[in-house]
This record gives sequence, C-alpha cells and structure tokens, in this order.
Amino acid sequence: MLISRKTVVIAGALSSVGRAIADQFARRGFSILLAGRDVDELKCLADDIKVRHEVSCSVRFFDALDFASHGGFLDQCVESFGNTPGGVVYCAGYMADQELAQMDFATAKRTLDTNLSGAVSLLEKFAALFEECGSGFIAALSSVAGDRGRKSNYIYGAAKAGLTAYLSGLRNRLYSANVQVITIKPGFMDTAMTWGMPLPAPLTASPEAAAKAMVKAILRGANVIYVPFFWRWIMMIIRYIPEWQFKKMNI
Ligand SMILES: NC(=O)c1ccc[n+]([C@@H]2O[C@H](COP(=O)([O-])OP(=O)(O)OC[C@H]3O[C@@H](n4cnc5c(N)ncnc54)[C@H](OP(=O)(O)O)[C@@H]3O)[C@@H](O)[C@H]2O)c1
Repeated sequence: MLISRKTVVIAGALSSVGRAIADQFARRGFSILLAGRDVDELKCLADDIKVRHEVSCSVRFFDALDFASHGGFLDQCVESFGNTPGGVVYCAGYMADQELAQMDFATAKRTLDTNLSGAVSLLEKFAALFEECGSGFIAALSSVAGDRGRKSNYIYGAAKAGLTAYLSGLRNRLYSANVQVITIKPGFMDTAMTWGMPLPAPLTASPEAAAKAMVKAILRGANVIYVPFFWRWIMMIIRYIPEWQFKKMNI
C-alpha cells in the first residue's frame, strides 16, 4: 500500500492547540483532515486553512468516546485522502475539576476514557495500518501531569500517565516497522482547558508557540518532547523529590 506522506489526521482538531497544529502542518504544505465533534465549526476552520495556505483540508465527525465508531472513522480517513494517511495527531483531551472527579465516578471515567481509552482505541487502528505499510507517524498529547500524581489533578494525571506508558510501548512495538511514535508532554498552555486558572506566565506557552515546537519535533522524528522544553528539567526535579516528602507537599 502506498503512503501519502504529506497528509495528516488531527483528532480533536477544535482544541486550541489542535487548531494551531493544523496551521503548522498546512504551512508546510500538508493536506489535512480535521476531526472532532462540531462539524460546522470544523468546516469554518477548514475553509480558513484552505484560503490561507492553499492546501486541501477536509473534515470528519470524530467522538473519542464512541469506541465502536473508530474503525469506520479510519476507513473514512483513508477514503478522504484516497490513500493511507501519513500520520495522525491525537489532541482530544478532557480535564474536569479534580474534586468533582473524586466524588463523581462518571466524571472520572470520562477523564480516563477521553484521554486514554479513546486514544488507545483509535491509535491501535492507525498502528495496525501503518505497521502494514511500513511507515507513518503517531503523535499524541499527553501531559507533564502524567509524570507524577499530585492531589490537585491526579485523576487526569493518571489518564495521561497511562497514555504516556501506552505510547512508550507502541513506539517500542512499531520501531521495527519504521513507524514513528511521538509522546508530547506539554506543561501549562493558555487554552480553553486552562481558562480561568491562575497560570504562572513565565511557565505558560501560547497554543501557537506550543504547536510550532510540536510539529517541528514530529517532523524531525523525536520520541518524547516536553513543551516548552524546560518542563523536562522541572519534571526531573519533581520526580526526584522523595515520596516521604512529596506526600506532605501542597502540590
Ligand atoms: N492546556 C494545557 O495546559 C495542557 C497541558 C498539557 C496537556 N494538554 C493536552 O493538550 C490537548 C489539547 O488540549 P487544549 O489545551 O488545546 O484544550 P481544549 O481546547 O479544551 O481541547 C480539548 C479538545 O478535546 C476535545 N474533546 C473532548 N472530548 C472529546 C471527545 N469525546 N471526542 C472528540 N474530541 C473531544 C474537545 O472537543 P470539543 O471542542 O468538541 O469540546 C476539545 O477540542 C489535550 O489532550 C490536553 O489534555 C493541555
């Protein structure tokens, strides 16, 4: 099977950073398939991308929680490009208020399912296709929150930790098939997800700056990246705090 190298599927394309990732790929001449739950809004975004970058841009409905639909969604992606896509970026995510997730299991489950189960369900399908073709890339937005559980967001953090471990194993599995798997761990980004939160400005990236770093990393074949880069060092320090001390911290 042939691979359309400069084609990419963005799942969760209406996320603040997903829009910016689409823009970065379009600047580089990629044909894009935008996938998400609001098809009208996706069409507006696609029109904007087509006008500004003169690339082909199509839209498809995608619900991360409708696992049974993911096989059909993959078929639609292949049909839309007329070929196997060159890569996929999983941007869908959900972070509820931590206390609500503690009290209400449905909220906790939605957090786990959107960030982890949905990614596993979809990306396994892309993995099988890319493995068969012997090329392709799979990128997903995990989070620094998955590097160590903290009381302020450990249910979301657990989902992202699972996603990080999943991507590590997938990278190991697909290495011999020449398929690239990129784990993206953003720190704070100024997006709809963090709206209203008191983010420390020097540690916070705009979605545009973050997307630029992410797409560059994908195209240079990175394995695991922190965005902005300094979060690698911050998280290294946080991981090294001994547990007897960490458990007492208000973090
Ligand atoms: N902002 C940060 O500081 C930060 C830090 C680390 C990691 N991240 C991760 O970065 C990714 C992008 O988030 P963001 O910051 O750009 O926030 P965002 O704008 O809130 O994006 C989240 C996106 O996920 C989509 N989504 C949620 N449930 C979905 C479902 N069932 N099916 C399909 N799409 C679904 C939402 O779609 P709708 O538009 O339909 O609601 C929304 O477009 C997420 O994975 C997030 O966890 C963010």
